[in-house]
Amino acid sequence: MRFFPIFLDLEHQPVLVIGGGEQAAQKVRLLRRTGARITVLAEEPGPEIAALATAGDLALERRRVAARDLVGVRLAYVALEDGGEAARAVQMARAAGVPVNVVDRQELCDFLTPAIVDRDPVVVAIGTEGAAPVLARRIKAQLEAMLPARLGGLARWAASLRGRVAEAIRAGAARRRFWDGFFDGPIARAYLAGRHEAAARLVETELDGAGAEPAPTGSVTLVGAGPGDPDLLTFKAMRALQTADVIVVDRLVPQAILDCARRDAARIHVGKAPGKPSPSQSAINAILVREAEAGKHVVRLKGGDPFVFGRGGEELAALAEAGIPVEVIPGITAAIGCAAAVGLALTEREQRRSLTLLTGRASDGPAEHDWQALARPGRMLAIYMGTGAAGHVQSRLLAGGIDPATPVTVVENGTLPGQKVATGVIVGLAELVIDAGIKGPAIIYVGAHPCPARTAAAGEERGRAVRALASSRPIGEQAA
Ligand SMILES: C[S@@+](CC[C@H](N)C(=O)[O-])C[C@H]1O[C@@H](n2cnc3c(N)ncnc32)[C@H](O)[C@@H]1O
Repeated sequence: MRFFPIFLDLEHQPVLVIGGGEQAAQKVRLLRRTGARITVLAEEPGPEIAALATAGDLALERRRVAARDLVGVRLAYVALEDGGEAARAVQMARAAGVPVNVVDRQELCDFLTPAIVDRDPVVVAIGTEGAAPVLARRIKAQLEAMLPARLGGLARWAASLRGRVAEAIRAGAARRRFWDGFFDGPIARAYLAGRHEAAARLVETELDGAGAEPAPTGSVTLVGAGPGDPDLLTFKAMRALQTADVIVVDRLVPQAILDCARRDAARIHVGKAPGKPSPSQSAINAILVREAEAGKHVVRLKGGDPFVFGRGGEELAALAEAGIPVEVIPGITAAIGCAAAVGLALTEREQRRSLTLLTGRASDGPAEHDWQALARPGRMLAIYMGTGAAGHVQSRLLAGGIDPATPVTVVENGTLPGQKVATGVIVGLAELVIDAGIKGPAIIYVGAHPCPARTAAAGEERGRAVRALASSRPIGEQAA
């Protein structure tokens, strides 16, 4: 980030716009929302600027800029077609210490004007540092669709209630919960639907009750963070992250996902790194219970889905035993996320009729399963924690009668920037894992390769070797 985003108070502040054409008019339209005192310098102003000057909405001087015009100015916009004149204006602004923006000339700008979603006083600013203005506009369009028109009114109403709420609910954590409920529950829904009186009645009920009730107990939300790409978080997961007091987080959850959380939420890392000392499951359970009993909203953030090889069931049971309210928010499990990331269809009509998720590792070594059943044709296996036991998986499936030419795909760090894909056949699985240098978290798929077009794209994009080992059959043509 080179350009630092801030919101500048321009009310009653002098702002200079140099130029009078359409681009200058666009800046003037934006600036007028702030209540700035706008002066336009333009030898031949366009009709919009001229009309605003006639109406007394801005000061217009029909001449070139001079150094004295910049004195005491808060911001300057240059919207001139003549490059030489624009450079002259920039020089004057810099000499006067006035931050300057030159329309469509990022290299000359001290500041950039973001794309804006305006629900005054709620304002969302979107910037790409000039790299992709079209993308900024697309994001703006999405946010315009997502943010209700009455959001600004809701924010203003909340501001007017702040004193009363602080009076009625003195404990900080309880007050924050009130506001979470205010913006995320029936009060906001009623307000945004235009039922302002009903919303006000709901607030009264909440505040009356707040004084009488004992401090509310905490709660735990078990949140599935998905395989790593923050865009794969669910809306619910995102909301939970933004309302957490404490986040208890696993090793596999990347920083980019933690960055989505409320900034002042405390973080407790309880990663189970292989081969390194890490908190035991009962210690983690105890942390969850302790934090919730202290009245906090605890988010237990886990890679993938909490209930798929995530020990979410054990945490749920411990919390239930302690009488702590728990909500579970599912996440995209690695087998599903990685398959989508590389274009591998997990089921295929008439060819792959079942999908089995299994672990390659047990607490005491390589995991055992009913390998004969797993080796039957028409099955798709997604093996978690399996790369360390690849030789074991390979030999057990071959002994169980699997076709040696059954396609296998290994996806490491799926959906993340370092994603790696390796393809081969079951008879060479152990060798494939070693040759491809798979060391990070990976899923082994037995039963399919990615769609060829996607495999090539993934390989090129990420500059990784995509290897096909001795598979002479077309993809998908395994014995069915
Ligand atoms: C303890 S399990 C947790 C699984 C998680 N609860 C889920 O639903 O995905 C950890 C294993 O999940 C798999 N895994 C998790 N994230 C992955 C990713 N981004 N790419 C590939 N495999 C991943 C790996 O097999 C890893 O060893």
